Amino acid sequence: MSETILVEHLDSIALLTINRPDKLNALNSQVRDELLAELEKVENDDRLRVVVVTGAGEKSFIAGADIGEFEGRSAFDQRNAMRFPRIFDVMASFPKPVIAMINGFCLGGGCELAMSCDLRIASDKARFGQPEIKLGLIPGGGGTQRMPRLIGLGQAMRMMLTGDMIGADEALRLGLVEQVHPHGDLREKTLELAGRIAKMSPLTLRVAKEAVRASERLPIEEGILYERDLFCLCFSTEDKKEGVEAFLEKRAAQWKGR
Ligand code: COA
Repeated sequence: MSETILVEHLDSIALLTINRPDKLNALNSQVRDELLAELEKVENDDRLRVVVVTGAGEKSFIAGADIGEFEGRSAFDQRNAMRFPRIFDVMASFPKPVIAMINGFCLGGGCELAMSCDLRIASDKARFGQPEIKLGLIPGGGGTQRMPRLIGLGQAMRMMLTGDMIGADEALRLGLVEQVHPHGDLREKTLELAGRIAKMSPLTLRVAKEAVRASERLPIEEGILYERDLFCLCFSTEDKKEGVEAFLEKRAAQWKGR
């Protein structure tokens, strides 16, 4: 049992809630380790198709790395604390879709964690920022690389050089989040979206995610070749046969995940 992660299984959705509301769900090493352990359980449970990550309480998704842990640390201590596997990379390459349900402050490592997810659904009360510059630091959870890919170099530069916070509407306009909902509707709307994704073939979801993720690292010519190979690989699955037959027979597909 995790002390810092609440786990709910809602049909085929795993809802993981970071539970340190008195510290605005700041990411300390215990949270990171327990989140990694819970993700491993979700990965190995075929009944669970989609992961939703959120923060406990009404105020915060994740207010960043736990700043208390930085005090007195040497560069080598910090390097050791950042050893692999890192939660950000695990989420980005996780074989099931991961959705950030952003219910409040989404700062520093919290914003980086959200950017490592496949989709970001935010409350209209959410606030976003990379305030590390104000601590004499830079983002260390992939923010300098993932944010420019999501919102463009200039806007990412603005966020990281000023440390300013932005609201949910601006985050939506910039492409930092995909949807914004009234605070009270956030859970229902996010679970509704997660539920629709969870109805797809888990095998095909995995291939789709892998193909899109490849665009983060491959030049376009190589990415397009990789996509072609993955597309053709789908022709070897029972789910492709079923999906095409179901369409032609005007019925709903029954996925097997094979
Ligand atoms: N690390 C450790 N503790 C944190 C934290 C963090 N990143 N963010 C908030 N907390 C703690 C506060 O120290 C406080 O603890 P306390 O009650 O024991 O004093 C508690 O969470 C509540 O935060 P508080 O600052 O009182 O809330 P607020 O509403 O006045 O301000 C923020 C909210 C988010 C603006 C403010 O907490 C903040 O700036 N946090 C740091 C954000 C940051 O720099 N993140 C990047 C880290 S690299």
